[in-house]
Amino acid sequence: MRIDIISIFPEMFDGPFSHSIIKRAKEKKLIEIFFHNLRDYSKNKHKSVDDYAFSGGAGMVIMIEPIADCIEKLKSERKYDEIIYMSPDGDLLKQKSANHISTFKNIIILCGHYKGIDERIREFFITKEISIGDYVLSGGELAAMVFVDTITRLIPGVLNDETSALSDSFQNNLISPPVYTRPREFKGMKVPDILLSGNEKEIEKWKLEKSLERTKHRRPELFSEDD
Ligand code: ADE
Repeated sequence: MRIDIISIFPEMFDGPFSHSIIKRAKEKKLIEIFFHNLRDYSKNKHKSVDDYAFSGGAGMVIMIEPIADCIEKLKSERKYDEIIYMSPDGDLLKQKSANHISTFKNIIILCGHYKGIDERIREFFITKEISIGDYVLSGGELAAMVFVDTITRLIPGVLNDETSALSDSFQNNLISPPVYTRPREFKGMKVPDILLSGNEKEIEKWKLEKSLERTKHRRPELFSEDD
């Protein structure tokens, strides 16, 4: 998958995208990530990309031209499956939509700032808006990092069999069962016997029971979500 990220702070991605799963996915060439600094598309000498909102009100708005120029340039080079704007009023990011987007070939992610972007960008260029939760971040960058991490781990070949995303929480609208490692006993707290029994069938049954129990207690609303 090719991911083009449009941002005024591309350096924010340096740390999170240079470690762990995203680093491995880039090394294996399963994802390619390109950054486009919106300021490079500014037409004024101060390289600013924002302006006052018509009708007043607090906060600046990102102007239409730099974003339009950047998106149009990218679109002239290849076809995109989706042009995504990270926004608190977008569709809430869920494992189901992440699974779907992880199958795409090329996507653009636009990160906003200040009071948002000129509405005409949303109308004419954006094909999907994604929120990572009902709270407002200072910009779309942190949300884009969460989103890219979520889809990257779902791309076949990124995780090995042992860490397969198929066993992640939410894959079947269920929360994952508890996990344990050595020692078998810590200050009187023991690992459940069943996990040491070697009986694969019973272990799978136990895991499913625990998943159901946890989901019922912690996130009962997941049972009524579409799968
Ligand atoms: N930008 C600001 N807040 C956001 C959120 N909650 N999700 C996605 N993008 C955002």
